[in-house]
Amino acid sequence: MSDQPMDKTDLNADRRRFLRGGITAAGGLAAATLGARTASSATPDPLITEVQEWNQVLGDGVDAAPYGVPSEFEAHVVRRDVAWLTADPVSSVNFTPLHELDGIITPNGLCFERHHGGVAQISPADHRLMIHGLVDTPLVFTMQDLMRFPRENRIYFLECAANSGMEWRGAQLNGCQFTHGMVHNVMYTGVPLKLLLQEAGLKPNAAWLLPEGADASGMTRSIPLDKALDDCLVAFKMNGEALRPEQGYPVRLVVPGWEGNMWVKWLRRIEVGDQPWHHREETSKYTDLMADGKARRFTWTMDVKSVITNPSPQAPILHGRGHTVLTGLAWSGHGKIKRVDISIDGGRNWHSARIDGPSLSKSLHRFYYEFDWDGSELLLQSRAMDEFGNIQPTKNALRAVRGENSIYHNNGIQTWQVRSNGETENVEIS
Ligand code: MTE
Ligand code: CO
Repeated sequence: MSDQPMDKTDLNADRRRFLRGGITAAGGLAAATLGARTASSATPDPLITEVQEWNQVLGDGVDAAPYGVPSEFEAHVVRRDVAWLTADPVSSVNFTPLHELDGIITPNGLCFERHHGGVAQISPADHRLMIHGLVDTPLVFTMQDLMRFPRENRIYFLECAANSGMEWRGAQLNGCQFTHGMVHNVMYTGVPLKLLLQEAGLKPNAAWLLPEGADASGMTRSIPLDKALDDCLVAFKMNGEALRPEQGYPVRLVVPGWEGNMWVKWLRRIEVGDQPWHHREETSKYTDLMADGKARRFTWTMDVKSVITNPSPQAPILHGRGHTVLTGLAWSGHGKIKRVDISIDGGRNWHSARIDGPSLSKSLHRFYYEFDWDGSELLLQSRAMDEFGNIQPTKNALRAVRGENSIYHNNGIQTWQVRSNGETENVEIS
């Protein structure tokens, strides 16, 4: 391009000249094999040859959106809930639109929400965090006090223990947003919980913590002290900005790799004790009911898991046969993901997926598998393996061990059926 200023009409004439010449550059062939349209097509594309409205009008100025929002063309990319799942939206859940996202970070406005008593609105100036119990000096921290401790930045996934819970007895919900969308992956900025506990001074018999939320549910969980001293954070930022109210503003507990219910939001109190507390919910919730009527308790770590996000029921193949990009997410509460295998024929043959982007412990990993689709029916599956050799099981293998009563900790392999018209559906194969 010349560095002379050009008006829009000139630019358009230039595009037309380019079109008539067709593609001569070396890139043309590669583009054609990947399914891109060749520019020398007989019917010219008015989107290229004509001046468009957005070429002619001035856009919004810098004062139009002091806090930016996504393009109006992305209005369908939102958290969604399933109305029949819970009695009331105040004690409910919505789901991350995984099929619309790429990379590993979940944008703040799309992180799924799960709360038992609605979203508390708390001014940071009025918020207090107390640490008491088996400590030398009970302490109360203001938000300003917390900001004077050394901070860490860490990227972690949060998965609700009930994620994929509706799928225990068979394929149920038609979209990875609903089957797997109770997970998000965020960079937290916060103070290591260890530093706050050291400030208070732990008594020799200290062994358990009881964090409590300041919301109407006053949610509490028992957390073993070892975990708190290992990698828990008291976080006040997510992806660089303040926590969203939905995620526990002004401060939440981060319990890396462990089930989401322990990540207490609106954190106001941590009691230190020598044994776990008995929770109101513990007999029915957050235990895994087995076939013999016994329940697994303290199943904290989220096991290795993965899901193909595209194609998937909400994201069918629209481009027809030929070059196809399959992508998805894999994670493990134990550590890093080492390998993801893909099958397009229901588990008969497996191919290695390509992991791209940061590979971090207890964080989502992004994988890709590119293939030429011949237009025949596909049964898509992904199977993740973590750095400790844990391998994602089939749903039937999981049921053989845990029965079908549970809602929690379903990390079984998901199957999507792609029909020859590209439509995709949640199915189970034996
Ligand atoms: N903390 C409080 N105070 N109140 C709650 O209802 N829900 C828990 C946990 N922390 C909850 C809470 C559950 S069950 C989950 S899965 C996660 O928060 C969800 O976190 P998110 O809303 O940021 O996705
Ligand atoms: Co939960």
